[in-house]
Amino acid sequence: MSSKSEMNPVRAIRTFPSFPIALVVVGKEEKNVITVSLVHTFSFHPPLLGIGISPCRYSHELLHRSPDFTVNLPCKELVEETLFCGEKSGKEVDKLEETGLTAVPGTRVGTPTLKECPVSFECRKVQNFDTGDHTWFIGEIIAAHVADGYDRERALIYWAGEFRTIGELIRGR
Ligand SMILES: Cc1cc2nc3c(=O)[nH]c(=O)nc-3n(C[C@H](O)[C@H](O)[C@H](O)COP(=O)(O)O)c2cc1C
Repeated sequence: MSSKSEMNPVRAIRTFPSFPIALVVVGKEEKNVITVSLVHTFSFHPPLLGIGISPCRYSHELLHRSPDFTVNLPCKELVEETLFCGEKSGKEVDKLEETGLTAVPGTRVGTPTLKECPVSFECRKVQNFDTGDHTWFIGEIIAAHVADGYDRERALIYWAGEFRTIGELIRGR
C-alpha cells in the first residue's frame, strides 16, 4: 500500500466505489423520470428501497406530493436515455416523449413502470428524511417485475462520472 495523502472530505467522498443506477418514475398524470445513483436497499424484510433526491430537482416536488414511485433498473443499452433523464429537467421537457421510454401502468401503485428496463419495483412511500443536501424517500416494494433471463452483467452502474457494467468476479462467498 502506497502512502496516503489527506484529501478534502467533500472531494474524497467521490472515491467511494460504484453506485447503482436507477430510472425513478414519479407521478401519474404529471409524471417524470429522473436518473438516480443514490439508491440503496434499506431493509430486506420488509423490502425497502431508498432514493436520495436533491431538493432542487423537479422530481423532489413530485415525490413529496405522490404516495408512490417506481424504481427501474436500466441495462447498458439504455445509457443514452439514462444520461438524458439525468441532464434534463421534467420542468422543461417531457422525458418520456423525448427518450421514447414507455410508461406501463403500475399493477399496485399509481405511478407507471418503464417497459424497456429489465427490472422494475413498485414502491409505496413510507417515510422521508433530510440528510445534508438530499432528501431520502423510502419506499416499500409492493410489486416487482423482473425480465425472464435477466442478465445482471448488462446492468448499468456509475462511478466518478463513468457509466460501467460490473467487472471481474473475484470469488463467490
Ligand atoms: C448518472 C447520474 C446520477 C444522478 N444521480 C442523482 C441522484 O442520486 N440524486 C439526485 O437528486 N440527482 C441525481 N442526478 C441528477 C438528476 O438526475 C438531474 O438533475 C435531473 O435532470 C433532474 O431531473 P428533474 O428536474 O426532472 O427532477 C443524477 C444525474 C446523473 C447523470
